[in-house]
Amino acid sequence: MQDIPLHIGIIMDGNGRWATGRGLIRTQGHLEGLKAAKRITKAASDLGVKYLTLYAFSTENWKRTSEEVGFIMSLIKQYLKSEFDFSIRNRIRVRFTGDMEGLPADIQEEILDTMRQTSGFDGMQVVLAINYGGRDEIVRAFKKLAANHSPETPLTDLTEKDFSAFLDNPDIPDPDLIIRSAGEYRTSNFLLWEGAYSEFYISQKLWPDWEKTDLEEAIENYNKRDRRFGGIVNVA
Ligand code: IPE
Ligand code: IPE
Ligand code: MG
Repeated sequence: MQDIPLHIGIIMDGNGRWATGRGLIRTQGHLEGLKAAKRITKAASDLGVKYLTLYAFSTENWKRTSEEVGFIMSLIKQYLKSEFDFSIRNRIRVRFTGDMEGLPADIQEEILDTMRQTSGFDGMQVVLAINYGGRDEIVRAFKKLAANHSPETPLTDLTEKDFSAFLDNPDIPDPDLIIRSAGEYRTSNFLLWEGAYSEFYISQKLWPDWEKTDLEEAIENYNKRDRRFGGIVNVA
């Protein structure tokens, strides 16, 4: 019996390489990447995952050409619209992490709409990380803390728990497993705080090639890990 991670985060990487490897333009890879995101969302929901965080656009991805950025934004909008029926059928609650204010107004509206309309659903929660950076989330949390801070409680007493209450989704448990496709061994600024004790699984497969079996393999691999959280394994 496999232990299904409560929360899985995915760095969906390799769309560009998938396309250029086939002589196609990079945007074609993003289109296929979107299809993979839908497949894996369905697979995770079927497997009983409770939280799935999808890294769709980082705070650094604005460095790309305006054509590519514009295409990704339009895909995100399309995803939110087209996935709505799927969310209803599977009672999926859509949530958000990232700097919402830095996104185009129409995308903000679409995200807020989807979040509102799915807020009562009790199935898997899909957290879309868009214009997301781990460092940015920490800085935004610090700003929220500073704005809400009462002079009676000295900051020198601040605990990790106090601080994490100002992160984007403090009610969501830390990811148990972080998957990265396309073979890079780095976080690229994903869930820096929350991922402190996440298990990492790097797959060589490019994101558009991901199927349910790849997710199952990642979970199988996760089941072989000893999660020590800095302690020692219990040898009863
Ligand atoms: C991931 O694929 C999608 C985003 C970062 C938006 P890439 O576009 O980074 O694909 P590669 O890494 O260039 O292959
Ligand atoms: C990370 O991939 C961001 C997303 C998958 C959204 P990148 O392709 O942007 O990361 P780097 O540039 O290879 O570190
Ligand atoms: Mg990449």
